[in-house]
Amino acid sequence: MTRLTVNNAPIQYALSPDTPLAVALRDASNLTGTKIACSNGECGACTVDIDGRAVRSCAVTIASVEGSFVTTIEGLARDRDHPVQQAFLAANVSQCGYCIPGLVMAAAVLIREVRDPDEAAIRRAMSHHCRCGIQPRLVEAVRRAAAIERGDETVSPVASPDIDARDAAKAVPALTAPKRRPQS
Ligand code: FES
Ligand code: FES
Repeated sequence: MTRLTVNNAPIQYALSPDTPLAVALRDASNLTGTKIACSNGECGACTVDIDGRAVRSCAVTIASVEGSFVTTIEGLARDRDHPVQQAFLAANVSQCGYCIPGLVMAAAVLIREVRDPDEAAIRRAMSHHCRCGIQPRLVEAVRRAAAIERGDETVSPVASPDIDARDAAKAVPALTAPKRRPQS
C-alpha cells in the first residue's frame, strides 16, 4: 500500500509502487482532470501540486511521493473560482483544453510563490506544450491571475458549475457499467 493525501483525502493505493502518479490519479482515483500526453515528463499536461511544488505526475512513481499532499485540478478550488481559473476564463485562454489543467496547476503554484511574476518567470514556469497555440494569451492571463490574487483586479464572476467536483470526477461515463439488455 502506498499512502498519500489527495485533494485533502487520505488514499491508500493498492498498486505497484512503480505506478506513475498520473496513472494512479486517473485510473484508481478517477481524477481524470489530470491529463497524460507524452508520459515522459516533457509536455506538462499531467502537472499537479505536490507539497506546494508543480510536478509532472507522469514522471514520479507513487512510491517516490509517499506521504505527500497532492492537489489536482479537481481539488484546486471548490467552485472552480481560483484566480488562475478566473483569469483563464476571462482571457478565453482555452482552445481544445487538453493542456489547461496542467497549466492551471503550474500557474497556481507560481502566483503563490511570486506575487508579481514577470514574463520571463511565467515562461520559465509554464514551458508546457500546447498544440493549439494559446501561448500568446497565456502570459497575460497569468499576470492577470496574479493581480486577482493580490486583490489589484477583479473579473466578473462566472456562473458556479453547481456540481461538486468530487461527484463530477466520479461521473465518468466510460467507467460506468453498461446496463444489461433484457433477454428476449
Ligand atoms: S504527460 Fe506528463 S509531462 Fe507529458
Ligand atoms: S488548448 Fe489545446 S493543447 Fe493546449
